[in-house]
Amino acid sequence: MTTYRIALIPGDGIGVPVVDAAWTVLERAASRHGFQLSATRFPWSCDFYRETGAMMPADGIETLRGFDAILLGAVGWPAAVPDAVSLHGLLLPIRKAFRQYANIRPHQLLPGVEGPLRKEGFDILCIRENTEGEYSGAGGRVHVGTPDEVAVETAVFTRVGVERILRFGFEQARARRGKLASVTKSNAQKHTMVFWDEMTTVIAAEYPDVEVTPYHIDAMAARMVMAPDTLDVVVASNLFGDILTDLGAAIQGGLGFAASANINPDRTAPSMFEPVHGSAPDIAHLGIANPIATIWSGAMMLEHLGEREAGAAVMRAVEAATAKGIGTRPGQDRTDTIANAVLQALG
Ligand code: NAD
Ligand code: IPM
Ligand code: MN
Repeated sequence: MTTYRIALIPGDGIGVPVVDAAWTVLERAASRHGFQLSATRFPWSCDFYRETGAMMPADGIETLRGFDAILLGAVGWPAAVPDAVSLHGLLLPIRKAFRQYANIRPHQLLPGVEGPLRKEGFDILCIRENTEGEYSGAGGRVHVGTPDEVAVETAVFTRVGVERILRFGFEQARARRGKLASVTKSNAQKHTMVFWDEMTTVIAAEYPDVEVTPYHIDAMAARMVMAPDTLDVVVASNLFGDILTDLGAAIQGGLGFAASANINPDRTAPSMFEPVHGSAPDIAHLGIANPIATIWSGAMMLEHLGEREAGAAVMRAVEAATAKGIGTRPGQDRTDTIANAVLQALG
């Protein structure tokens, strides 16, 4: 029987209960579909930082490298550790080190879900550049604390990085409804974003069957709310993709529903699966975190591992649960109630 070795990094806050909940569902799916999942749990988190002075051990990346995939909950507990320390100490280095340059975030509808921005009749796939751009970390501060203080954060866009994410987006569009929205802010950012627009035109020549439309990020934000049904694949830089995918979550019904896959398309290192949301300190001890985003991310992990049927079965079970009204409104059901409804539907 095939056994997949999965690294679990629950992380902080609601990361822990949503990963636990998702894991019970994934194990059940494995047993129903004739393969095994073996979990190794890593306690890397802000608590770990307070005990050891680091978010993960010095050889953390090398430890993870041998796994078939990583399932992560959320990182960040700003009351204890500054976010810029915790995220640059754990989540962001994994994405970079393992060349998980394509962050796939599906915005699709589950039956029965309600929410103030919830829309009907759309199916959007956001492809977010995940290793460079505005998240390069390059920059610094001078004259700190003086009236002359200056802070600089440099966005780095490489030709290799822009080409490969655009090509990835075009391929996804070709496999779906043939429409690609490329999102920039080239009217204001005259180097990086103009470069992205130019590369879009260059790569588009290879995909005459894909209809590509450039959008400015501000207009795209409004379009996702006003006319999400006009969109198919949306490709964006690291920061723009980050912002648009919380908006995508909102039109799905809330952050409890938005899944995410950090993919290394070359399969030279493990890919990582995690919900779009964070550690939600405001509800972390209430037992009401919605695990659906993490279960959905887990379904994407199964598909990535080649267990397409099992991934699809998990999604059918999630849909069966929400169709019954379980987990469809924030705070309505407890984490384990939602997970149990999915387990029951899985059989
Ligand atoms: P957040 O996503 O944690 O929370 C935003 C709001 O959404 C909160 O009101 C929260 O209660 C709600 N929410 C989020 N997930 C939910 C769920 N599954 N079920 C029900 N409600 C949910 O964003 P934030 O408050 O900006 O960030 C909190 C911490 O998480 C920070 O440290 C931040 O840096 C970190 N963060 C980490 C990740 C990650 O690890 N991938 C992602 C986003 C934020
Ligand atoms: C996400 C998160 C992270 C990001 C933060 C926590 C660094 O918001 O995965 O969407 O911006 O990538
Ligand atoms: Mn985000």
